[in-house]
Amino acid sequence: MDDTAGQANFDALMAADSRVEPRDWMPEAYRRTLVRQISQHAHSEIIGMQPEANWITRAPSLRRKAILMAKVQDEAGHGLYLYSAAETLGTPRDEMMEALIAGKARYSSIFNYPAVSWADMGAIGWLVDGAAICNQVPLCRASYGPYARAMVRICKEESFHQRQGFEILLELSRGSAVQKQMAQDAVNRWYAPSLMMFGPPDDDSPNSLQSMAWNIKRFSNDELRSRFVGMMVEQVEVLGLTLPDDQIRFNEETKKWEHGPLDWNEFKDVLAGHGPCNAQRLERRRSAHDDGAWVREAAAAYAAKQQAAVAA
Ligand SMILES: [Fe+2]
Ligand SMILES: [Fe+2]
Repeated sequence: MDDTAGQANFDALMAADSRVEPRDWMPEAYRRTLVRQISQHAHSEIIGMQPEANWITRAPSLRRKAILMAKVQDEAGHGLYLYSAAETLGTPRDEMMEALIAGKARYSSIFNYPAVSWADMGAIGWLVDGAAICNQVPLCRASYGPYARAMVRICKEESFHQRQGFEILLELSRGSAVQKQMAQDAVNRWYAPSLMMFGPPDDDSPNSLQSMAWNIKRFSNDELRSRFVGMMVEQVEVLGLTLPDDQIRFNEETKKWEHGPLDWNEFKDVLAGHGPCNAQRLERRRSAHDDGAWVREAAAAYAAKQQAAVAA
């Protein structure tokens, strides 16, 4: 298909709100946007394993340990689905991984904050995975087929993650005064960073409009953030805790939830590499990559042997 016919076909797919598949012609900018978004998303999943993996050995019971291990493993799986989806756009996984460990690729800034107490496992599950679900459910209808299909499975697992986080907080909140305070402190720490996971405000989000025109993004950052606040307001009451924001209110006119100001300078700073754990997270990823080299080599040698056997 030449570019003119390809573009016409692509435009028709967009107009019909239909799916683009790897074999289809697509504009270079659409391909680049998707590779950037999907690989950043994949990086976030695997870097996001770290703050929680740090607590596996310190989980307060065998049951909690088993659940947390399963959750961290799920995040590795999410990374794999997403790297695979990004590869269908023609960028090899090695290249994406190189960009991550060289510090050239971005991932969600929230994973550069430390998890300082067991209650953070609850707050991360409840708020961070909760924000991820809000963001990702609409991506199940994203125009690029492999991405949308990966998101369906990921979202199912994310809702389990959110429930396990909620349950950790609920148990602490119903425990001793010290435990309840621990839960509240964790919610206080993760609240603002989780709101910032939706990205900058709409008037400072230059790529959003194009992503919406391409049916990748379905709702604006502020719209999703507002929905998330509404969900959390209801759930925090069940938890018997509070959100550290006295400006939350439901605007009857706009029918939207509003919240207090967020520190976008901090957000940009953390994104630029100056958060409390950026260096530690990348260092850990680099050493995990080096430690895993023999596994990749062995797997490649095994695959080559299998292929040779089939060819013979
Ligand atoms: Fe995930
Ligand atoms: Fe998750």
